[in-house]
Amino acid sequence: MKIVIVDDEQDMRQSISQWLTLSGFETQTYARAEEALPHITADFAGIVISDIRMPGMDGMAFLKRLNSIDHSLPVIMITGHGDVPMAVEAMRIGAFDFLEKPFDPEKMSALAKRAIQARRLTLDNRSLRRELSDGTGIMHRLVGTSPAMERLREDILDLGQADGHVLISGETGTGKTLVAHALHAVGPRAGRPFITVTCGAHEEGRLMALLFGAETGAEIGAEIGAAHSLERPALEVARGGTLVLEDIETLSDAVQARLLSVLDEAQNTGRDLHIIAICNGAQGLAGCEAALRPDLFFRLAAMHIALPPLRQRGEDVLTLFAQFAENYAQEYGTDPIHPTAQEAAQMLQAPWPGNLRQLLNLAERATLQARRGAGSITALLMNDTTEVVPQDMGEGKPLKEYVEAFERMLIDNTMRRHRGSVAAVMEELSLPRRTLNEKMAKYGLSRADYL
Ligand SMILES: Nc1ncnc2c1ncn2[C@@H]1O[C@H](COP(=O)(O)OP(=O)(O)OP(=O)(O)O)[C@@H](O)[C@H]1O
Ligand SMILES: [Mg+2]
Repeated sequence: MKIVIVDDEQDMRQSISQWLTLSGFETQTYARAEEALPHITADFAGIVISDIRMPGMDGMAFLKRLNSIDHSLPVIMITGHGDVPMAVEAMRIGAFDFLEKPFDPEKMSALAKRAIQARRLTLDNRSLRRELSDGTGIMHRLVGTSPAMERLREDILDLGQADGHVLISGETGTGKTLVAHALHAVGPRAGRPFITVTCGAHEEGRLMALLFGAETGAEIGAEIGAAHSLERPALEVARGGTLVLEDIETLSDAVQARLLSVLDEAQNTGRDLHIIAICNGAQGLAGCEAALRPDLFFRLAAMHIALPPLRQRGEDVLTLFAQFAENYAQEYGTDPIHPTAQEAAQMLQAPWPGNLRQLLNLAERATLQARRGAGSITALLMNDTTEVVPQDMGEGKPLKEYVEAFERMLIDNTMRRHRGSVAAVMEELSLPRRTLNEKMAKYGLSRADYL
């Protein structure tokens, strides 16, 4: 993610850029809006900070142009001291926020961070939506070759084709939301509406209105993330497509009763209603069963996908880390980091209470750290595990699994470092050529991938 800074005053430009760079952001400065424009296209991976008063194209005109390129690009405007009407006008046109000169640097980086988070969310959602019309794309995003992941892929393909409701359970950050998208994308409903309601985020009355409809309507569209603002309840909008109910375990008795009667009615009238229920929690299916009335539970759980926690995915931890590190390296314009053997061993044994989300977060922090030339993955991991008390310290895995994962990772990293030079790898790992070839074949590593 990049921050584009546009200001005609050089001092200002430089000091903003310096501060943001020190806070860990990547910046690019321009003296004129006209110069910046060609570098900003739809889906631009970053945000913009712009002065309002500038010669040539001023900040307001710039903001309007940016809006027309990508209406959800966060643009932070810099206004002169006391220039309230200008700030108000900027917000009205669609600025993300404004900063009043002279500004507090801490406040500026906090604001930039917020804008970047918003941007990341927008871009993530967009790419997910694009992939919705392309099942193969989203299946590609599912990294991992452990038996648990292979089974998950098969389940997605099978259940995606089937017609019944599906229940997805799993600990936080295990990929439930991603799998819901995948189920929709690989099945006959791909390209039809995909509507998500986060049940835990609304109080009962509001949730009833969102799901089943009520007096209010205008704002509902925005909340369920539909492309257009709509006057109809989620159950209606999702007809023919998929309705995802997140946090199903939080449903009150009243909502459960209503949902049950809607499901029955749909079944009796042959109405096309397809639900993916997502249940959050370490207890898996049992937790969901305990939270729902039995008749509703059995209707929703006829087909079930249980996402395995990261600590049960063996060496997928390393494959996933490599993938995430690669993505972040691209995002931050650095070389991807490769864990040392010791760090890899620690990752294989860590409890990962936050699962893939925690691993993603670790990969990002490690990338930023490496860019500054400091720190180790070990230190980051230690930090994580003291924050969250591990519930179970990694279930036992056969020694052979550790050793193999280890061996694969070592060869993989060494090949990367030597850009596919077999001779250099043989030398470093003291392996005869034949053994190296055999091991590479065993682990599915191909020299061509490193050249
Ligand atoms: N198999 C996978 N391969 C690669 N990335 C994955 C995989 N599974 C999940 N992810 C990524 O991990 C992150 C967490 O996944 P997701 O949001 O789907 O989890 P979740 O179980 O819905 O989390 P929460 O409980 O917080 O809602 C996302 O960025 C997702 O894209
Ligand atoms: Mg989720």
